[in-house]
Amino acid sequence: MTGYFRSRISGTGSYLPEKVLTNHDLEKMVDTNHDWIVERTGIVRRHIAADDEAASDLGFKAAQRALTAAGLTAKDLDGIIFCTVTGDQSMPSSACCLQAKLGCRSIMAFDLSAACSGFVYGLSVADHFIRLGGFKHILVVGSEVIHRFVNYEDRETCILFGDAAGAWIVSQTAADDKNVIMSSHLHSEGSLGDLFVLGAGGSRIPLSPEVLDKKGQFVKMKGREIYKNAVRTMTSCCHQALDANHVQAKDVDWLIPHQANLRIMEAVADHFDFPKEKVIVAVHETGNTSAASIPTAFQIGLETGKIKRGDLILLTAFGAGLTAGSVLMRY
Ligand code: UT7
Repeated sequence: MTGYFRSRISGTGSYLPEKVLTNHDLEKMVDTNHDWIVERTGIVRRHIAADDEAASDLGFKAAQRALTAAGLTAKDLDGIIFCTVTGDQSMPSSACCLQAKLGCRSIMAFDLSAACSGFVYGLSVADHFIRLGGFKHILVVGSEVIHRFVNYEDRETCILFGDAAGAWIVSQTAADDKNVIMSSHLHSEGSLGDLFVLGAGGSRIPLSPEVLDKKGQFVKMKGREIYKNAVRTMTSCCHQALDANHVQAKDVDWLIPHQANLRIMEAVADHFDFPKEKVIVAVHETGNTSAASIPTAFQIGLETGKIKRGDLILLTAFGAGLTAGSVLMRY
């Protein structure tokens, strides 16, 4: 059946928790200041999940919005791919929690761990399932409650991250449909894994009072190295997407990079002489929301009237792992 089907994005939604943490709030918590954060990252505020909200709760709200936008119900779904590194717990998966909350049939549901590249990875996996013909509608969710893994005494990380969820319904369509996922390219460089880690709580370093004393439960990052690798890998993933489709950067309507840092996004755009007005930016409002960042930025682009059906859109992401990837699609 391969080759008879392609994937189109039939509905999208996102959810930002109500509580907002501004740069001025952070000034009262750690040695930092609003101007430094804006100048070095572009971030102004980020959203923080309520105490009773976990990744599947945020994902649930985003998924409901995506289903409504697609004109579908949860019973229409054939699979859930839940992209996260801050799932509700290790077991059961957040995908299964969401499958129960939505009231889906007994469908495939699994978590996907690729950190900030998670959503691009999830889209690629969904696209491949759809192309094989056995799946009509797959829900891809990127959802993170990352603030629970951030040390608010570490100014190099705590200013960066926020919570959010985004959800897309990836649906089967005819091979000659033009509004489809055109290609995806995924990469990893595990040898650089120590640049960005959430070390404790797994089978190597189980949680213990000693580990908690040393703040092992929080993310640790070598920011400058991550920055350089982010620009390098996202640029090369964009080249791959353009070359594979014989498309030039000037033909792309919107670039939606992982929303980690405005300077990183601008550096990638500059590499292609891509106009800054055609880069979808949400980082000022959300901070870095890891796997949720691309669908959240997309939704802001859609709801502010920028993104339209038929637009050529280039997604690119990088993250812990290190992981990276790109998706070229016509929305
Ligand atoms: O999804 C992947 C996740 N990670 C990322 O995307 C992070 C990528 N890296 C970055 O975005 C940037 O490297 C940061 C925003 C983390 C840091 O920006 P930078 O321009 O690379 O700053 P830096 O680390 O070179 O630090 C410059 C100065 C240092 O002071 P000195 O040594 O010059 O006196 C830092 O101690 O800024 C200081 N600094 C801060 N000052 C105020 C570092 N963090 C802060 C802070 N507030 N929060």
